[in-house]
Amino acid sequence: MRIAMVTSECEPYAKTGGLADVVDALARALGRAGHRVDVYLPRYRGIAHLPSELSALSVQVPLGTEEGSGVRRVPVTIRSGEGDGYRVRFVEHDPSFHRDGFYGGPEGDFPDNAARFSILGRAALETIRAEARPVDILHGHDWQAAPAILSLETRYRVDPLLARTASILTCHNLAYHGWVPRDRAWVMDLPDAIGDRHGVDLLREAVRHADLVNTVSPTYARESLTPEYGAGLDDLLRERGDRYGGILNGIDTALWDPAEDAALAAPYSAADPAGKERCRTDLCARLGLDPNGPILGLVGRLDPQKGFDLVAAAAPGLVRSGARLVVLGTGDERLVAGLHELARANPGRVVVLDRFDRDAARRIYAGADLFLMPSRFEPSGQGQLIALRYGTIPVVRRTGGLADTIRDADAEPATGNGFVFADADPAAFADAVRRAIEALADPGRRAAIVRRGMTADPSWAGPAQRYARLYARAAELRGGASPAG
Ligand code: GLC
Repeated sequence: MRIAMVTSECEPYAKTGGLADVVDALARALGRAGHRVDVYLPRYRGIAHLPSELSALSVQVPLGTEEGSGVRRVPVTIRSGEGDGYRVRFVEHDPSFHRDGFYGGPEGDFPDNAARFSILGRAALETIRAEARPVDILHGHDWQAAPAILSLETRYRVDPLLARTASILTCHNLAYHGWVPRDRAWVMDLPDAIGDRHGVDLLREAVRHADLVNTVSPTYARESLTPEYGAGLDDLLRERGDRYGGILNGIDTALWDPAEDAALAAPYSAADPAGKERCRTDLCARLGLDPNGPILGLVGRLDPQKGFDLVAAAAPGLVRSGARLVVLGTGDERLVAGLHELARANPGRVVVLDRFDRDAARRIYAGADLFLMPSRFEPSGQGQLIALRYGTIPVVRRTGGLADTIRDADAEPATGNGFVFADADPAAFADAVRRAIEALADPGRRAAIVRRGMTADPSWAGPAQRYARLYARAAELRGGASPAG
């Protein structure tokens, strides 16, 4: 099939979170399976790794005008290069994208995001028209791709080239909607029926109009049908019925392989796990961490979503009873300040790295004994999958993708690969950590739990097949290509 993906992030070009890894890995896996994938991405300032040969194409993107009389055309350059298994197509429009930040700055979201992401989406549609080659699937990721989907559904269907292109929206996180107040919505050039008199909730409208909608795990898909997790979209998601579901993400098993990881002090694998101990020693030496106690690692955005408040509340007690804690992440200033204070009070026992550091992250995945992910909600999550692969036992809250990947080793002794707790409170979390620490003290049991994690297959092969089936179903709904096409 021919697939056009529209996204605001893609590794290795632009990344703030898991979305970037997912788009890159999924596009590559689909490419390997024989599909032709184009990934449309804004050409932000500071994109460092460009493919060596870029070709350029000029397109005119129609945007609305304030008076609502017709459209104005914005010249945009599409620079395309072959990535690894897919083609990446940078949408170049410097007034929109050549600035610091992808979505906003210290003042909040950019006020012109509706225009910026309309340019991204419509540039993709105009490129398809300019090249006069139909695509089977328009696959948009998160609210930033909503203008692409809404433009296809309301403005571009009249073009025979796009009449049968099926639209798919993947929601990586329902907490971010992309809100456009009514007095700015004109720029998107969408029919007035889109949104209400206050404005346009981009994610909501894309959920309503896409042919098929999915999120990134079966459990989060179910949770999001309830008011507690639905972020105001649960009613609409329920309405979509079987046109909404969950596909669990994979991880790139070549990028995340402790046997091949150049950041580590020693390689290791399930068959030959000895190197992990050297990675632990190395981690402690680098960070000035006292190795005589279980090491709890945490890597991620310091965001209330991730349950860092639970960690902050439970950490003093855990550290008093002998645990070591190493945290790598940036985010919420109050959380960061609280963690720094904890580190000052516990030299050699608590280390906080308040920065973005790929190699340090890898050394924590490898060198820690336990990996903490007490998320309040987690659409999919990749930290727990990386931890499993690196032989570090995950302690997670039973929610979203965490519930779909981690089984509690006390409740399910024969298959458990981690430790799981249900209630989002510090005591329940601390209890799960204590149960995990007990397991560490029993070498045979620990080795069995670790082996299950290291030998599982978290690769993209399975998920990519599931997406291919989703595409086939969407194409069928539109009367378009057959799966083989
Ligand atoms: C978002 C979600 C995370 C998911 C990622 C990629 O960042 O919060 O759970 O793994 O998207 O889909």
